[in-house]
Amino acid sequence: MEIKKVLMIGAGQMGNGITQVMAMSGRQVAMFDVKQEFVDKGIATIEKSLNRSVEKGKMTQNEKDAVMGRITTGVEWGPEDCDVDLAMEAVVEDMDLKKSLFKKLDEWCPERTIFATNTSTLPVTAMGSVTSRPHKMIGMHFFSPVPIMKLIEGVVGLATDEDTYKSIEALGNSLPNKTFIKVADSPGFVGNRIMVPMMNEAIYTLFEGVAEPEVIDNVALLGFNHPIGPLRLCDAIGLDTILHVMEILYGEYGDTKYRPCPLLRKYVEAGWLGKKAGRGFYNDYKK
Ligand SMILES: NC(=O)c1ccc[n+]([C@@H]2O[C@H](COP(=O)([O-])OP(=O)(O)OC[C@H]3O[C@@H](n4cnc5c(N)ncnc54)[C@H](O)[C@@H]3O)[C@@H](O)[C@H]2O)c1
Repeated sequence: MEIKKVLMIGAGQMGNGITQVMAMSGRQVAMFDVKQEFVDKGIATIEKSLNRSVEKGKMTQNEKDAVMGRITTGVEWGPEDCDVDLAMEAVVEDMDLKKSLFKKLDEWCPERTIFATNTSTLPVTAMGSVTSRPHKMIGMHFFSPVPIMKLIEGVVGLATDEDTYKSIEALGNSLPNKTFIKVADSPGFVGNRIMVPMMNEAIYTLFEGVAEPEVIDNVALLGFNHPIGPLRLCDAIGLDTILHVMEILYGEYGDTKYRPCPLLRKYVEAGWLGKKAGRGFYNDYKK
């Protein structure tokens, strides 16, 4: 099935980025969040990103206006918004919340609608199991910042059928600058299972006083040729998200190699969540 109309639940860091690339590929997207200020912030982020493309000559003003014209927004969503080919969520990483959203979507969406989650680590199969259409549930795991990062992990649940996979693979590969890669539904999939424990280990080196943040990041920049150091990356993603992922990996695998670093927990408790909070492992962000 060709995906033409998309319902996007969540206008945060990932939700607005996914909305942007879907709209850039010609799809109609309705983006929702719980408060108008979150929706406004999401739209402002999209606008800023597209303005940069216009300034750099990668897009004309008319093209930008056409992309913005394909996006609608709202805070209250109901059955009237659910006649879509794809209903996708990028709300906070909370299984109960995600399940309750998919239950509601299952009631309101027509039979053809495919469900996708942008979860970083939670089991896609379990989300599908609360609906009457587990064969139409799939993970589309984008990376941040969405308009820039090339990878989408296509997470195939136990019950996901071939039609659903093929439709979402075609969608993923049609998005600007994106490559869709198939992985199985396993905690952390492939990307986060490799990357997040590495970031947690970098936090341990800070916690144990092995080196300062700049030094730890420089090791990755100069020694591994990474474009960004692990602590700066933690700040960009959000320390609460990193802690969530580590807790899920630890809980799902029951292996102490996934134990979240106590310093990570302390920073989250302090509200030092990284760039979005104005402070994380670095304190040089605009407040
Ligand atoms: N941040 C990353 O780098 C990253 C990367 C890949 C995947 N993810 C995953 O994407 C999802 C979203 O992460 P994020 O970084 O965009 O978080 P975020 O906090 O920036 O955005 C989440 C948004 O969901 C909204 N929301 C909460 N409950 C809602 C509801 N009931 N209805 C509608 N909106 C609701 C919040 O108001 C918020 O605006 C999470 O599952 C996360 O694990 C994050």
